[in-house]
Amino acid sequence: MELPSQKERELFLDIATESVMTAGIILQDLVGQLEKIEEKGRPGDLVTEADKKAESSVLKILKSRVPSHQILAEESGKLGTEGSDYLWAIDPLDGTTNYAHGYPASSVSIGLLFKGIPLVGAVYNPFRQELFRGAKGLGATLNYRPIQVSKTKELNKSLLVTGFAYDRRETPDTNYPEFCYLTHLTQGVRRSGSASVDLTDVACGRLDGYWERGLSPWDIAAGIVILEEAGGKVTAYDESPLIIESGRLLATNGEIHHGLSQALDEALPWLKKFYS
Ligand code: IPD
Ligand code: CA
Ligand code: CA
Repeated sequence: MELPSQKERELFLDIATESVMTAGIILQDLVGQLEKIEEKGRPGDLVTEADKKAESSVLKILKSRVPSHQILAEESGKLGTEGSDYLWAIDPLDGTTNYAHGYPASSVSIGLLFKGIPLVGAVYNPFRQELFRGAKGLGATLNYRPIQVSKTKELNKSLLVTGFAYDRRETPDTNYPEFCYLTHLTQGVRRSGSASVDLTDVACGRLDGYWERGLSPWDIAAGIVILEEAGGKVTAYDESPLIIESGRLLATNGEIHHGLSQALDEALPWLKKFYS
């Protein structure tokens, strides 16, 4: 597939950057001052005025800069021009639960998909003051310095991260067996509570791999392109090509990809045996 020109990719990356930085400042200003925290439906799935204000600031920028593109924003849904090849996936506050508790692990995550493929991404964590950027063919950076994934080759030397979706009380697919088994096999499994923080932490080599289910395109679109451009690999759990709408992804430094995919498959039988 022919990609948009380098100049266009650079322009879109700058628009994504301006958007995450603008929203990030709003998040910084409102932290610890929330008057209203609501549940969106499922227990624990929160929305605050910070999510809403941050999202409006992004929508304002995108509507003026790329009016012919389509938008998928977590709090506002689908907007913009239907049928466009471009779709901006916006999570104005990824890690809302952390944010509502004052736990500093959240980011603004904005990814641009071109014909369904992550093309450009920017993730800004206002608490660490870290700006991750990436665009297909242009590499990935943290605060404008190039980044690379780790070189860890063995699962037993790796540090991983995962998460648990809000539907965990309603589905047998809880991710609990996988979490236990990988905790057993590796140097540890962390749970940050922000998918974009997880993906970008793998991208810059702090962590070696990440898996999760029950995600939405706005959680992962930006992180995917940043991680791939940092030399990482992103697929479905079984290593087949990722379908972003499936919400289930395996994202690693590439070296441990196959081992982690196999381990995910072994988790449930292992847990049953462990407790029998
Ligand atoms: C959530 C975070 C979390 C993941 C959830 C997401 P939100 O996003 O990324 O790490 O486990 O599945 O929904 O609700 O904080 O934007
Ligand atoms: Ca999210
Ligand atoms: Ca969110």
